[in-house]
Amino acid sequence: MRTVRTISALRVALGRGRVGLVPTMGAFHQGHLSLMRAARAECDVVVVSLFINPAQFGANEDLARYPRDEERDAKLAEEAGVDVLFMPSAAEMYPEGFATWVDVAGTGGEGDSRPDHFRGVATVCLKLFNIVRPDVAFFGQKDAQQAAVLRRMVCDLNLDLHLRVLPTVRDEDGLALSSRNAYLSEDERRLALTLPRALEAGRSAHVRGSDPVTAARAALNGLEPDYVEVLDLDGVRVLAAAARVGSTRLIDNVILEIPCQASAWLGRTKEES
Ligand code: PAJ
Repeated sequence: MRTVRTISALRVALGRGRVGLVPTMGAFHQGHLSLMRAARAECDVVVVSLFINPAQFGANEDLARYPRDEERDAKLAEEAGVDVLFMPSAAEMYPEGFATWVDVAGTGGEGDSRPDHFRGVATVCLKLFNIVRPDVAFFGQKDAQQAAVLRRMVCDLNLDLHLRVLPTVRDEDGLALSSRNAYLSEDERRLALTLPRALEAGRSAHVRGSDPVTAARAALNGLEPDYVEVLDLDGVRVLAAAARVGSTRLIDNVILEIPCQASAWLGRTKEES
């Protein structure tokens, strides 16, 4: 595996063949690694970007304390079969005078709770797509709205790549893996389990024909949500929620309905399969 920090060094390292990109902010866990392994299985060249993107953090969010461990991450990426680890500096990605932003309109849920968050995500991903020029980019269902925003951008701006959205990897007890779980104390970790359980309660209610949002809210047991919403993410209906446990903000979602024409979620697009 080669580690590169500049765009010009990355271009040299790329080589030939089908290129897969896994954009990340590091602090790797099995969720990230599942995307890297999927890329390894499908592509000739696997590029992982590790960039804690300041543009997607609000002023009062956790940019300063976001977990960082480059050495451990490099080792895990190497073990997952990654060819190139791209770790640019903030100055490399946002040089002085940077002034262009990608704004995908109409993002509820996270978009309402975190103004400018998706603008930062879309901008950095478009930059990464242009820098790496991948044939396929891999994302997690864990951040379902993010994936939907990026899919919208790919479609609207005629980007020549495929997006894969792979299932959320969870701990045995059901908590979705997240770099931010590192902030949780033991007690908070237990309390955090309420979130996936509430979403499961919502999904069961939906199956029985009841309102999933009401059921999920009732099952939150005092955990105060930022939102509990059913979102339509290009035809895929998910029940999504965000809640704060102590000072840590967690998000999670479960799929309620996935129409067959949305098979691009959780696997291949129709035209490819
Ligand atoms: P980050 O939070 O590091 O996540 C990188 C990728 O891993 C995202 O596609 C995310 O959805 C996926 N992921 C996270 N937890 C997961 C889990 N438990 N199971 C499966 N996949 C999981 O998302 C970002 O970084 C950034 O916003 C980024 C896209 C890199 C842009 O800066």
